[in-house]
Amino acid sequence: MGNRVIEPANRALKGELIIPGDKSVSHRSVMLSALGNTPVHITNFLPSADCLSTVAAMRALGARVELISDTELVVQGNGLHGLREPDTILDAGNSGTTLRLLMGLLAPQSFPVVFTGDTSLHRRPMGRVIKPLKEMGATIVGRAENTKLPITIVPAEKPLHGITYVMPVASAQVKSAILLSGLFADGKTTVIEPYPSRNHTELMLESFGVRVSHEDNRISLMAPDRLTAPAELIVPGDISSAAFWLVAASIVPGSELLLKNVGINETRTGIIEVLEAMGARLSIMNKRKSGEEQVADILVKASQLHGTSFGADIIPRLVDEIPAIAVAAMFAKGDTIITGAGELRVKETDRIDAIYTQFVKLGGNIEAKEDGLIIHGGTELKRAKCFSHDDHRMAMSLAIAGLAGNGVEIEEPDCVAISYPKFYDELDRLIK
Ligand code: S3P
Repeated sequence: MGNRVIEPANRALKGELIIPGDKSVSHRSVMLSALGNTPVHITNFLPSADCLSTVAAMRALGARVELISDTELVVQGNGLHGLREPDTILDAGNSGTTLRLLMGLLAPQSFPVVFTGDTSLHRRPMGRVIKPLKEMGATIVGRAENTKLPITIVPAEKPLHGITYVMPVASAQVKSAILLSGLFADGKTTVIEPYPSRNHTELMLESFGVRVSHEDNRISLMAPDRLTAPAELIVPGDISSAAFWLVAASIVPGSELLLKNVGINETRTGIIEVLEAMGARLSIMNKRKSGEEQVADILVKASQLHGTSFGADIIPRLVDEIPAIAVAAMFAKGDTIITGAGELRVKETDRIDAIYTQFVKLGGNIEAKEDGLIIHGGTELKRAKCFSHDDHRMAMSLAIAGLAGNGVEIEEPDCVAISYPKFYDELDRLIK
């Protein structure tokens, strides 16, 4: 498809948006349901390309997944030990979560699996998952010294054994891969996180009857006999998708948007803390439980933002929101300094480089560092043609920068389908 032009907003953004289902929780809902013995009815599932990669993989592994509507599924598994050898290579597409979590789930199985993915996923580091899984006794072979796709898991001849693993990077995907392998391992499996990362795997395992202990930064489990599937799983709205509207409504003058059903699990709310520190006007309303997760409605009103600083301790709680925060920072008075964010270099694209090269084309005054960014806010933005790097969060960040600035032409805009298929429809609805 062609480029997409976003015109500058000629009026305030007003109204309500229902935030689509959380990508991380959607993946986990299908994976864990496939390990139960009874059907699970999943609602508010995110029907995005990444989550559909997980659905295809779980079907190939023997789970029955019935699509009732695009956001409603019924998954029927064959029990904890009921996965079967797939007939084909498993293709994770663009999805790091599909690949890394499934490596954890499949390393202990007694059948071989071959994984592939798109070009972006072939570039991303997988050694961070392979290393602990090998320590647990798995045999995994990958390209480039066992760090890259394509990857083969060789059947486990004997059960894996639990380990205590001190994670060198705070990564929910690595943590989850180890815990999922631990479901099949002898003895106790423990991961120690440098900083708290999203805990959806732990919460959902608990709703499947697995006891997960959490003391400070140590998370442990023992292999259960079975998973007891809940009849219903409700996916909360994705705060990472809400992030684009939180920023857009903050920086388009006069805006007032109500974002409904936003997941506010505290391992994900770094974006709220940072925007509030920048002077954003957010009201968190109607807090409630949605399954095992917390959700709320967030009212955001436009305000003059100012720069802020944040670093390694909060990064895992807002790692996917940094491109959107960088847009907010371009509209803020003063400097925003982001440190300890080296992980951005190994996302769907090198996001430090992408933010720097593309936002500078729009007139941003930005310095790229090895592990962060300095954004000198308040420059006059201009219209430009910018490349999304085929990265969904870059495309959406460019869109809101153009909307609040002087327009943008986005090359490779369709990648928004990875996490937010209706993003442009929602944008068109707000500005028409
Ligand atoms: C995710 C964890 C994060 C995040 C990704 C989804 C997850 O990745 O960036 O979009 O669902 O566990 P890392 O674990 O690599 O930080």
